[in-house]
Amino acid sequence: MSTTPEVPMSPIGKDTPRVDGPLKVTGVARYTSDYNFPGQLYAVPVEATIANGRLTKLDTAAAEKMPGVRAIFHRENIGKIFRSTLGPGFAGITDERRPPFEDDVIRYYGQYIALAVADTFEAAKAAADAVRASYQKEKPNVDTELKADDEPQVVATTFAQANRLQSKRGDAEGAFATAPVKLDQTYVTPTTTHNPIELHATTAIWDGGNLTIYDSTQGVVNFRGVLAQMFGLPKENVRIISRFLGSGFGGKLFPWTHCSLSAAAARQLNKPVKLVISRKMMFQTVGHRPRTQQRMRLGATPDGKLVSLQHDYVNHQGMLDGYHEDCGEATAFHYSVPNLRVAFGRAKRNVGSPTSMRGPGAVPGLYATESAMNEFAAQLKIDPVKFRIINEPKIDESLGLPFSSRHLLECFAVGGEKFGWSKRTPEVGSMKRDGLTLGWGMASCAWIAARFDVEANLQLRDDGTARVACATQDIGTGTYTILAQLASQKTGVPLNRVEVALGDTTLPDGPISGGSMVTASLIPAVFSAADSAIASLLSVATSAPGSPFNNRTPDQLGFENGRVFLKTEGPTKGVPFGDLLQRANLRLVTGVGKSESSFANPTPKFSTHSFGCHFVEVTWQPEIARLRVSRVVTVIDAGRILNPLAGRNQIEGAVVMGIGMGLFEHTTYDPQNGAPINSSLADYVMAVHADAPKIDVHFLDYPDKEINELGARGIGEIGLAGMAAAITDAVYHATGVRVREIPVKIEDLLT
Ligand code: MOS
Repeated sequence: MSTTPEVPMSPIGKDTPRVDGPLKVTGVARYTSDYNFPGQLYAVPVEATIANGRLTKLDTAAAEKMPGVRAIFHRENIGKIFRSTLGPGFAGITDERRPPFEDDVIRYYGQYIALAVADTFEAAKAAADAVRASYQKEKPNVDTELKADDEPQVVATTFAQANRLQSKRGDAEGAFATAPVKLDQTYVTPTTTHNPIELHATTAIWDGGNLTIYDSTQGVVNFRGVLAQMFGLPKENVRIISRFLGSGFGGKLFPWTHCSLSAAAARQLNKPVKLVISRKMMFQTVGHRPRTQQRMRLGATPDGKLVSLQHDYVNHQGMLDGYHEDCGEATAFHYSVPNLRVAFGRAKRNVGSPTSMRGPGAVPGLYATESAMNEFAAQLKIDPVKFRIINEPKIDESLGLPFSSRHLLECFAVGGEKFGWSKRTPEVGSMKRDGLTLGWGMASCAWIAARFDVEANLQLRDDGTARVACATQDIGTGTYTILAQLASQKTGVPLNRVEVALGDTTLPDGPISGGSMVTASLIPAVFSAADSAIASLLSVATSAPGSPFNNRTPDQLGFENGRVFLKTEGPTKGVPFGDLLQRANLRLVTGVGKSESSFANPTPKFSTHSFGCHFVEVTWQPEIARLRVSRVVTVIDAGRILNPLAGRNQIEGAVVMGIGMGLFEHTTYDPQNGAPINSSLADYVMAVHADAPKIDVHFLDYPDKEINELGARGIGEIGLAGMAAAITDAVYHATGVRVREIPVKIEDLLT
């Protein structure tokens, strides 16, 4: 029975195609709106056509009489929908705190005022269109000029290190006043809208006092907690399922108003109700990145040493939410500067609630910080890479802690070498190729590294397969694959024999797919689940009938590559675990693992972040005002990379999104009626394949053992940070125009 085992290669660090790839490309993977249920009805919301005022009358009579219509729901007949309270950690979160229909006040254009439910989607849409609303109208405030409504605050509220990050040190104002060289500029980032290809969708099914919801969500566990509160149910009575997502970018982190509307309608009619929102609604009711206005004041010595840094920013928020775009997240630690102050304020607008969008806070924040650094470097006549090297911190000066692993200078060196940065001539318009003017720019980036609470379980089964389960979800980034890799690494079961279960609240509680933290969070929980399953297996091995280990104790046994062996004989001998389970007539052994959020640690010894940089080339043809991003080199220091194939894919996607951020994306509101104007994929311009240049992604791959035993941080968001600043600096280098309000428009360059 003891044949020499093949030693499987560790899947960690290997290019690993997605384990769910075949399911997706064959159409077998079912997304939320692919599920249908017997008796299912369709719901279509009625949207307010004003952005500020009061709903005075709703005429539903005509709509109710239309064929196939089951009900038109509104404030009077939807039934009770409670508010949810915030719990510990990240529990109980809804971006829009007001449940739908709670009052008659209209606070933003597109707010849902009624819900048509019918036998078919078409009938529901026709009925929704037939509902007539009357309003008492006020002028909406969608002003783009931002001034804080209240006194700006200096407290740090970064979600990564709440109340730890010191956003003030030294005397920033005084040091700025006396600095020999100064920069004082304001940078603006626009409202942008998440546009995952998969629309938000919810199907709610009641069975007595139990509620099951299929939703396209980035957080099934939080969703369950919120919906349980909103419908007054014990959380055990609520189940949320989200097997596959056509991405989310933060817009699907928390439940929106259509989610509770679908559940409320299903309750009233006692039928499953499916609600898929329209692309237009994606711009109105399910979040966006708010506009930011960021004043940067930098002071330095003539040889480029920063002496003062002030970052004052304002973001818009909705009328009821308190959304804070944490632009200062990286500011306080990214550079060495003795005098610093970061302050924020918010300005209320008649828009739907803003929310997290890929790299919330740091992405717009680093656009401003890195733009200011580039502009200041030009003013000081110092190369922008060199300027950053001069101001590289030895420790995180905001926390007074060492970085767990920071290799930013190596990122610059590797990226600069690959890009050919040393050949850059700094004069505007001085570089040409094939009749085109070249612009070269660069910027650095950072993103928090941390872990959420996780529970996971892992099973070893009698057929030699394994199963790993966790109620987190895969938003398209590769979580199924990473979990299979982790389980395979610990159990020796090959990837194609590992079953991964995700996206269902019946599984052990897992985190939101947010903050680029899922992979780092899963590792300790999955590894401890595997260790506990293996411990159970070793005890089975000592007692299973006919087992060669019958007269042994578990501590005399080892487990490696799927086989149990006697420690005295070593791992080249041994018995496959499936054989032992079969002898014991057991289908499986299960191990449960847990790991704690790193936010729970009140006394961290290290500051944990990922770092990187982008080098960008643009080509400029002034004769026809044609600007293209032609080449990007990105170097990322994100700890150990578990799956370089999926990792590169994340960074390439982020770089393309960064081109969109720098050159195309912005949501504009009509000042008359407050409606997002360009609310379609035709009018909201994003970077597409034709805009994507050659992208060279390089990972440094230094394990960060402070984060988890494999040393892996996260890579979902960091690639977007810094990109827009690198692009605008390249645009300046080519054209001589400093654009401080992105996206860069052709009209900005027609000087
Ligand atoms: Mo990301 S904005 O944390 O989904």
